[in-house]
Amino acid sequence: MHPQLVLWLMAAALSVTPNRICSSSTLNTISDADKIVTLPGQPNVNFGQYAGYITVDEKQERALFFYFAEAEADPASKPLVLWLNGGPGCSSLGVGAFCEHGPFKPSGDVLLKNDYSWNKEANMLYLESPVGVGFSYSVNNTYYNSVDDEMTEYKERDLFITERATQVIMFLNLQCSSCSPSFNLKEIAIGNPLLEFNTDFNSRAEFFWSHGLISDATYESFNTICNYSQIRRQAQRGTITPVCSHVISEASREISRFIDKYDVTLDVCLSTVSSQSAVLNKLQETEKIDVCIEDETVKYLNRKEVQEALHARLVGISTWTVCSDVLRYETQNLEIPTITFLGELVKSGIHVLVYSGDQDSAIPFLGTRTLVNKLAKQLGLNTTVPYRVWFEQRQVAGWTQVYGDMLSYATVRGESHEAPFSQPERSLVLFSSFLGGRPLPEGLVRVCH
Ligand SMILES: *[C@@H]1O[C@H](CO)[C@@H](O)[C@H](O)[C@H]1NC(C)=O
Ligand SMILES: *[C@@H]1O[C@H](CO)[C@@H](O)[C@H](O)[C@H]1NC(C)=O
Ligand SMILES: *[C@@H]1O[C@H](CO)[C@@H](O)[C@H](O)[C@H]1NC(C)=O
Repeated sequence: MHPQLVLWLMAAALSVTPNRICSSSTLNTISDADKIVTLPGQPNVNFGQYAGYITVDEKQERALFFYFAEAEADPASKPLVLWLNGGPGCSSLGVGAFCEHGPFKPSGDVLLKNDYSWNKEANMLYLESPVGVGFSYSVNNTYYNSVDDEMTEYKERDLFITERATQVIMFLNLQCSSCSPSFNLKEIAIGNPLLEFNTDFNSRAEFFWSHGLISDATYESFNTICNYSQIRRQAQRGTITPVCSHVISEASREISRFIDKYDVTLDVCLSTVSSQSAVLNKLQETEKIDVCIEDETVKYLNRKEVQEALHARLVGISTWTVCSDVLRYETQNLEIPTITFLGELVKSGIHVLVYSGDQDSAIPFLGTRTLVNKLAKQLGLNTTVPYRVWFEQRQVAGWTQVYGDMLSYATVRGESHEAPFSQPERSLVLFSSFLGGRPLPEGLVRVCH
């Protein structure tokens, strides 16, 4: 057993060297009792899988659920990566492991091997956090009523789980400066993140317009009558002014329900969009990407025998859901900019990679790229790799720019909000380059005869 570490979150992958961490108490909780014999319907594999609970508060009966997949080969020499999904309140197990980059993808009654699984490169730990998400629970459920970014679940354990990544990063940083050098946080990657409320939300209108999803007139309305960040702010507070309401309903009508906002070029899972889809569904059968994977995951993780195999329990809820139905997240916390925390990380010597699936309209690359650029300027980091393409096999997989060899930005071409979902090969190249500290592949490999 290796890992004595746990930590990270929010559409973020974090890598640390597997030997010795801050607190020995944390992943030591993973024991042989957590070993998964086999998951129902899985093909034979030769890496270890573990799942179970890490108790965070015994008195209040609060526990976080984890799923741990050892690296396919030579796990002792591979880094440990903690994956934490965003949402706020969505499951790292359901989204990260089963829809994005875990070892298996559910398909009907069985699990198919994922050829681009990230445990080819690392030991992958998926943690459902905070309590109230997925199989993680608090028996005292008043706790769910006001979740915010200040929440701590690990006060005494050098591990701190909040709803959003950046607070954790900060905390860890502080904690771990007192116990280094045993803790070796190498780098953090964060995908399609909400970095700054106004810039990120306002970039949606431009993204919709430039991808042909809204008309010139509606784009004009966003720019002159009511912008997206205003709409979002009003929606969060529960009242939208008639003027803004008109703008957003025009946009919604034009975009239609049949567009996946997390990947505007991908087909939608019709069964989730509407139930009149039985006939149309046939059209999807040739798709390379299973756009209904989320439905399949929900079915799979709600099977009794699957829950038993995972050592999982439903506490205070009757079904496992992708994003928590019970947590009440303080949405105004979304207005706290997280870009500044990334800056703190860079300053403390941690390599930060921010990446964008370039087909996501929820947090479009347009805003993210601007914000990272601005951060580099603020930190006085000069461009060390000018904006250029990067390759996967023989095709352009995206664009990248590096600042001061510390802060990197990359887009992944054709990718969704949940990046590895629609471009698994490209995502795996990004992931392995990042872990290996290598620049993204710069060009075609020319074969000379
Ligand atoms: C339940 O949790 C709430 C919120 O965390 C706390 O204020 C309350 O004291 C707890 N109740 C009990 C019986 O421990
Ligand atoms: C959005 O609208 C508000 C209110 O009119 C304005 O204060 C803000 O500057 C606008 N933001 C952008 C980016 O246009
Ligand atoms: C960044 O570029 C500026 C302008 O070329 C130069 O004056 C400065 O020394 C550079 N900074 C570093 C850290 O290389």
